[in-house]
Amino acid sequence: MVAPSILSADFGKLAEEVRKVEDAGADWLHVDVMDGHFVPNLTVGPVVVQHLKTYTKLPLDVHLMITDPLKFAKPFAEAGAWGITFHQEAVRDPAVVIGEIKKLGAKPGMSIKPKTPASLALPYLKDLNLVLIMTVEPGFGGQDFMPDMIPKIKEISKYIKEKGLACKIEVDGGIDLRTGAETVKAGAQVLVAGHSIFSSGDPGGMVRALKKIG
Ligand code: DX5
Ligand code: ZN
Repeated sequence: MVAPSILSADFGKLAEEVRKVEDAGADWLHVDVMDGHFVPNLTVGPVVVQHLKTYTKLPLDVHLMITDPLKFAKPFAEAGAWGITFHQEAVRDPAVVIGEIKKLGAKPGMSIKPKTPASLALPYLKDLNLVLIMTVEPGFGGQDFMPDMIPKIKEISKYIKEKGLACKIEVDGGIDLRTGAETVKAGAQVLVAGHSIFSSGDPGGMVRALKKIG
């Protein structure tokens, strides 16, 4: 599956940009939320999700790169987030946050930064809709893919298969046709891509090409 990240879209014509990737068969729309604290960048809040919801049918895959996901899960769920992904590194007890997201009626996702080992995520996979493996340090679009994340994807994929879990593996950061293929081979099922789609000159064509991987 392909989840275009609007971080690299032209926000002055967001509806048009979203239409291009939706028409091309994108599966989800990835919305990067940054608070200037958990990561050194600021992006959008629930109001943008609320408006996106009115002009796309795509499930809104909201990636919270924020210090207090427990506080903000509710406004994002109310704004229309389909999935809410928080960072394991930001919270004391991931199980509590997963429970809260489920209670709000959204699909829970948990993300791990490049330096967080797979072993810390494994105990929570049974309760998650997705695990988001960062393939760059979170904070900015357009960074280079970190190839040393491949063993982590393989380890988590092996665990999910062995245990027969429904948790999907999503990868995020520096994904293009080449790196996307590498992650799919390692077990990734959902490719988040911002720069490679929206800076390509042909977002729809890139979505179709990414969807052919695998
Ligand atoms: C990075 C964000 C990503 C980012 C990916 O912190 O979580 O979703 O938009 O962008 P690209 O595909 O440009 O690396
Ligand atoms: Zn993201």
